[in-house]
Amino acid sequence: MFEVKTQAYANKREHYADLAQQAQGLLHGEPSLIANAANFSALVFHSLPGLNWCGFYLYDGTELVVGPFQGKPACIRIALGKGVCGAAAQTRQTQLVRDVNAFDGHIACDAASQSEIVVPLVRADGSLLGVWDVDSPHVARFDAEDRAGMEALCAVFMEALAA
Ligand code: SME
Repeated sequence: MFEVKTQAYANKREHYADLAQQAQGLLHGEPSLIANAANFSALVFHSLPGLNWCGFYLYDGTELVVGPFQGKPACIRIALGKGVCGAAAQTRQTQLVRDVNAFDGHIACDAASQSEIVVPLVRADGSLLGVWDVDSPHVARFDAEDRAGMEALCAVFMEALAA
């Protein structure tokens, strides 16, 4: 059985480093995209404070389609370039949005969401797998340390699939 740790951490960096190790242990040796995406979402959702949604949008060759996630039911399809997820997919740059109400074209799946971070997931061959989307009911929940931490977590996720 996998136990999500609930200990207190000295700082965010330490928390993300520990989370990356937990993710590695959870995903290691399992090549199933759906299994790993589901467990990864559950691990992050139950480990980090102040989240109301986290999960995957997977690229089907045309648009982003919702994948495994934790939180309320979400929008199903998002076109490239639309909303924060679509921007991350199109630009292949992490999108850190301090206030979604100030982001032109933000797609409100859950009215509670106030800030979010979306990391693009790009395979070693350069093709787009999808995006990792994390939402918070607090304005400015995510900072540069969250960005570095989320990108490191996503690297663990992508490496597990490639192994
Ligand atoms: N926030 C996203 C839409 C997806 S939901 O938040 C789950 C966006 O604007 O891309």
